[in-house]
Amino acid sequence: MTTANSYDDNEVVNPSSNLHMDDILSIRLSRRQTLKGGVSVTAGALLGSASLSACGGGDDAAEPALRLGFAAVAKNKNDVVTVPAGYQVSILHALGDPLQYGEESWKDDGSETAESYNRRVGDGHDGMYYFGLGDTGQYQPNRSDRGLLAVNHEYVVAPYGLHPKGRTPGATRVASEVDKEIYAHGVSVVEVKRGASGTNMTMVRGSSFNRRITSATEMVFTGPAKGNALLRTVFSPDGSRTRGTNNNCANGYTPWGTYLTCEENFLNVISRAAGDDAKRSAKEVVALKRYGLPENRKSPYLWDTAGSTDWYARWTSSVTGATAADDYRHAINTFGWVVEIDPFAPASTPAKRTALGRFNHEGAWPAPAVVGQPIVMYMGDDARNEYIYKFVSKALWDAKDVNGGLAAGAKYLDEGTLYVAKFAADGTGQWLELTFGKNGLDASHPTYAFADQGDVLINARLAADALGATKMDRPEWGAVNPLNGEAYMTLTNNSNRVAPTASPTGSQLKPDAANPRYYEDTYTNADGSTKTNKGNPHGHIIRWREDAGLVTATRFAWDIYLFGAEATAAGDVNLSGLTAVNDFSSPDGLYFDQRGLLWIQTDDGAYTDVTNCMMLAAVPGKVGDGGQVTAAGGTGTRKGANASADSVRRFLVGPRDCEITGVAVTPDGKTLFFNVQHPGEDGAPDFATNAFSSHWPASQTDTASTRRPRSATVVVTRTDGGSIGL
Ligand code: FEO
Ligand code: CA
Ligand code: CA
Repeated sequence: MTTANSYDDNEVVNPSSNLHMDDILSIRLSRRQTLKGGVSVTAGALLGSASLSACGGGDDAAEPALRLGFAAVAKNKNDVVTVPAGYQVSILHALGDPLQYGEESWKDDGSETAESYNRRVGDGHDGMYYFGLGDTGQYQPNRSDRGLLAVNHEYVVAPYGLHPKGRTPGATRVASEVDKEIYAHGVSVVEVKRGASGTNMTMVRGSSFNRRITSATEMVFTGPAKGNALLRTVFSPDGSRTRGTNNNCANGYTPWGTYLTCEENFLNVISRAAGDDAKRSAKEVVALKRYGLPENRKSPYLWDTAGSTDWYARWTSSVTGATAADDYRHAINTFGWVVEIDPFAPASTPAKRTALGRFNHEGAWPAPAVVGQPIVMYMGDDARNEYIYKFVSKALWDAKDVNGGLAAGAKYLDEGTLYVAKFAADGTGQWLELTFGKNGLDASHPTYAFADQGDVLINARLAADALGATKMDRPEWGAVNPLNGEAYMTLTNNSNRVAPTASPTGSQLKPDAANPRYYEDTYTNADGSTKTNKGNPHGHIIRWREDAGLVTATRFAWDIYLFGAEATAAGDVNLSGLTAVNDFSSPDGLYFDQRGLLWIQTDDGAYTDVTNCMMLAAVPGKVGDGGQVTAAGGTGTRKGANASADSVRRFLVGPRDCEITGVAVTPDGKTLFFNVQHPGEDGAPDFATNAFSSHWPASQTDTASTRRPRSATVVVTRTDGGSIGL
């Protein structure tokens, strides 16, 4: 998400004094072991020998199995989605579209009732996943012509389409607007079906699978923190239940066929009263501060101000009763989780899987499941200076659990080990275990006395601080290469890195090998004004390979796959050699499709004077295929092979003032879905004249349209029905 008008997800709340990475004595593995032996073993262990030809195996330069086969789209500022020649787009669904019959169509005037959003597409489309739907209503992983599409509805930063005249200003919110926003967040699940032409895909309105999950939907806690004293509320005095999922950013999926939705910027909705610190233990105050919620803090959404009933009071995390079972002092602890949803069981109750920890969860990305090995999820905490995590299940994968629904989820996601990443300057890294009673995570810890494993998970950031994890430049999406098991994660940007020679203050950090660039980037805007970006304004994509290719490894080798940059930037900034066909800023969404094609999406505020946000297609190499390099600012790092027009190419550019996010490709590679979030968010809207900086999606087919901008899911196909991107 971008940050205008909303909770600033750049806000730094990590005050821990973890050592700078260069100061940390790293475990040195032999270069031969990590960088030469790893790939072939990885592929063999994960996929068996059949896959070795696909990724090349060993060290030999492999003939790429995938070749990009489209003409790169030029950067542009048009108010349409621009796709390559031979491709076409259609809108699957947009904010307010009815999922069922009996509801009126979205009217472009904000007149829909709040309650109707229980049956309408929500706002702020973000992460999503396509599940093949079989004739018996079960998960059929390889089915491409019929499926269920689960889409996150992250937020309502520019609610132009939701209310009659946007958000009514004032310190106290209008109740009907708050109600509508509560129902416009969460997740939608819709059935989709390919048309008779074989090229298009449309939503099946009225399908019994169509469902909305909102910020009011009842959910259960599962795993080690279920029933923890820190999850008790007046709604659930035993800490086993809660209502709603919020600010659902990216996502994940499971091999048994369920959807994972992840709670990121939940501080958007949680306030805290003045004077609340005095009513808390010192330990509670430490935890609240670490998660960015000081006393006397008003949430950007101000949902708690719309009334005094429980429905609104639950949005302030303040002590008002005698015990935690009498108030919502622990409201903040009920968000920040990975939530599992069974899209094939519309009546099922979503589960907040606490074993995966609580933080600004961007998403949860599985390594390919291998029979007899644990299920592994990679996760990022999207805020400046936060961490990368990994979950390893205790249960070993049994393919008979496909279609096991939430019972399979309980088997694999409620018991396991959570780790946090520490990157060393020599290109190796470690996974540090976040388990109560190990590594000093117990009641004797000087910063925070951990009570039990539930406490470690609820306060995973504090546990990760204690272990000296590496502070990253805002971890956004991850993805695992199905061809060789290597994991990738975008680090979108960080304006708060300072020069290696500077004396950092507050939350500032010097660069380190895993977050190496520091520079200033000044340019002239179209209106003649100048803009300066500092630190690491364009972001980068890091990747790692587990030792010996084992998902259970606690050590890994890493390099930086790509550095975002403007093509014209200096060589020590444009370290990946980007050119006009592939230069980008602020990588955010990331997704490997089943064929091994990598999709990169941007959410940028540093290159938008030149181009709207975009999506690129890539055929990545492997960890270690580049070399040693010195980044702007003077910090050494390891980078991947330079980009070329053959390896990274711009596939599409979005409409004005949007973020491109969420991507899914059908198993046959012939239909691609992506999301356009908050088109027109940066303009000053005028509801009297219907003046907005974007009129998309209406502008896609009518350039004179004055309709309001809406977030939407877009379907991309080839006009000849062929394979996307190749
Ligand atoms: Fe919702 Fe981290 O982007
Ligand atoms: Ca972002
Ligand atoms: Ca994001």
